[in-house]
Amino acid sequence: MQGDHNAISHPEQLVEGDINLTKARQQWMENEVGEQAKDLLYRDAQCFMHQAMSTPCLDAIKSCKGSYIENISGKRYLDFHGNNVHQIGFSHPKLLNRLTEQLQQLTFSTRRYTNEVAVQFAEKLISLTPNSLNKVLLTPNGSSAVGIALKLARAVTKKHKVISFWDSFHGASLDVVGVSGESIFREHMGPVMAGVERIPPPITYRGIFEGDENKALEYLEFVLSKDNQIGAFLAETIRNTDVQIPSKKFWEEARCLCSKYGVLLILDEIPIALGRTGKMFAFENFGIEPDILCLGKGLGGGIMPQAAIVTKFEYDVFNEISLGHYTHEKSPMGSMAALTVLEVIQEEELLEKVKQFEAYMRVALAKLQRKYSLIGDVRGMGLLWGIELVTNRKTKEKAITEAEEIMYECLKKGLSFKVSKGNVLQLSPPLTITKEELEHALAILNGAFLKFNTIA
Ligand SMILES: Cc1ncc(COP(=O)(O)O)c(C=O)c1O
Repeated sequence: MQGDHNAISHPEQLVEGDINLTKARQQWMENEVGEQAKDLLYRDAQCFMHQAMSTPCLDAIKSCKGSYIENISGKRYLDFHGNNVHQIGFSHPKLLNRLTEQLQQLTFSTRRYTNEVAVQFAEKLISLTPNSLNKVLLTPNGSSAVGIALKLARAVTKKHKVISFWDSFHGASLDVVGVSGESIFREHMGPVMAGVERIPPPITYRGIFEGDENKALEYLEFVLSKDNQIGAFLAETIRNTDVQIPSKKFWEEARCLCSKYGVLLILDEIPIALGRTGKMFAFENFGIEPDILCLGKGLGGGIMPQAAIVTKFEYDVFNEISLGHYTHEKSPMGSMAALTVLEVIQEEELLEKVKQFEAYMRVALAKLQRKYSLIGDVRGMGLLWGIELVTNRKTKEKAITEAEEIMYECLKKGLSFKVSKGNVLQLSPPLTITKEELEHALAILNGAFLKFNTIA
């Protein structure tokens, strides 16, 4: 398969996912992937462009339902990654019914016309956000939602610069790779969006501030005070991939600093909103409100691409410019998906359920950490958890090979998740998961650690 000859020698590739060109991947291909899947993977590699982190693919799937994806030989994986689209699980029956009905009615909304379901979705979204956030603009994907948020911030503040975090991710299009902090998306891209000031994130377990969030806040204020052309501070409320959770105090103070310097706070909650943290929106955990909120991924229920920004009434003053203008802007299908997702989260009381499962996960993962010396740190909220592996708890050296071995061992046993930053196992199950499925996943994880790690 093309690309197999590339040795993995570039640490910058260890940012988001597992590296797909290692020896472990080769062994996985040889020993675990069936002939039919191999054939499809080969054809996939022939026709699709290759890119870091997603090709060659792991396996070929034929169905997704509830908490599971199923490969073409019938093997099922509990999907603890799901590209963060599966808050209500895959192929939720209510969503399938609603979309099937919608297909019989209105399938597309030509520009300059509106439609009932798009308006209903926007009204529902506004009813769930704080009173200050009451204007919506829809986009087909998260990157374009962030792009619109940046354009809006420029138009509102008349300032073009933006602060973002190193190591952040806000999408893959050329405008937003300019504000994202992961270099793998900017490599060979030449000059990207001008006016971006990146600051170190307030990460707790390692990093230049060694967990001292005050230093990160000082840095933020330092930059804000030096440059009066900064109009926006763009951040993920919680860093999704390696699960970095700032404190409530951090967010309260960062919010105050934005207000003090007349800078709009744009919160990118594209992967982590819609109940993932036990609240409908992650910022609700921190007692703050953004000026612009970006949503996406799970909004489309894992079927339709759908994203949105929600912002303030007073910023809706740009009749003369087009902030979005995407072809599928008021998509009836996307809107029906999003409306249904919001309803399902409420009807199935997923927020309450996530809080209960959070408590269960906290205890279960702390137990694993006590048991296995490989686990340096466990952090999480709701049903978003990161397990950071280290070869030595004192030096915190990243256990990269071990993380990969554990991931493949779990895959063999039917648990799929992503490894982030080379050594963080990221667990992001559907919120509709059952207790039995969660217990089963943790048993698989425990078994994998048992195989590769000495007991602490
Ligand atoms: C935090 C964050 N922002 C933005 C995006 C971009 O969303 P999309 O892939 O829908 O453009 C992603 C996608 O992974 C993301 O994780």
